[in-house]
Amino acid sequence: MIRDKAALHKQLAEWRHARERVAIVPTMGNLHAGHLSLVRLAQQNAERVVVTLFVNPTQFGDGEDFEAYPRSLKRDTRSLEETRADVLFIPDIETICPFGIEHATRVAVPGLTDEFCGACRPGHFDGVTSVVTRLFSIVQPEVAVFGQKDYQQQLIIRRMVEDLSLPLKIVTAPTVREADGLAMSSRNAYLSDEDRQIAPALYKTLHDVAEKLRIGERNYDELEDRATRSLAESSFRPEYFAVRQALDLREPDLNCNAVVVLAAVRLGTARLIDNIVLGGNLNSNELDG
Ligand code: PAJ
Repeated sequence: MIRDKAALHKQLAEWRHARERVAIVPTMGNLHAGHLSLVRLAQQNAERVVVTLFVNPTQFGDGEDFEAYPRSLKRDTRSLEETRADVLFIPDIETICPFGIEHATRVAVPGLTDEFCGACRPGHFDGVTSVVTRLFSIVQPEVAVFGQKDYQQQLIIRRMVEDLSLPLKIVTAPTVREADGLAMSSRNAYLSDEDRQIAPALYKTLHDVAEKLRIGERNYDELEDRATRSLAESSFRPEYFAVRQALDLREPDLNCNAVVVLAAVRLGTARLIDNIVLGGNLNSNELDG
């Protein structure tokens, strides 16, 4: 475990000297099997893996769960040892923002951040892109791994990397699910026992819509409305449910081959997001067919 930037840079210099590539896996900790699958994918793409753990205050809105966000450093350290990550980097806020949060340089990706989670959580993605840029510039990795679970997030980061010509490759890892289909998330801990039984219906609904798309249904508005209504009937409070082009989250045009069905709901005190991609490989540049 490394907390200090100088110590991290010493380690990175040794690896670079040995011509070893470095992959970064940014996290906010409370690691589960989804995070660990990212570490394994990182290991397939580079000789060395740095996992970062930073609960980033700037991506939490007012009234969100920054203070309450689950923290479990001991367990995280053990899981990463078992997964053989090379370094767990745990910077403090002074390392990430040496001039203080108020004076910190910000990076924003207008457009892609306006809708969906960006609309429901104003400022959230600016907090994500700003901190991820800082992590990239501290670690200077050749590869960075993100989860498909946060579909819009990985798309925004891909766009940012391309737009700023950052010299690294983004790899997107498939969503790891519980046996009943619920996407793993640190925030699933907020579900009551009763809501935990209901929660898998989100994935089931996404899956049903994906099936209808597969057999050729193209009335997106109706599919979205029906799914939203059915979720509301099972005591979810839907924030959005949408079928969009996988490449850019625009409404699908006629010759678009790859679409993403994406949704966010509230259930009790938890907020759940999930998605399914059809007809494309997230890690090729052929999402638009
Ligand atoms: P966090 O929620 O800790 O997630 C860290 C990474 O794990 C993200 O790339 C996320 O998409 C991925 N992940 C989460 N659940 C997953 C699952 N069930 N299957 C596969 N991957 C999963 O996302 C963040 O942190 C932050 O926004 C961060 C990128 C670290 C910036 O602060």
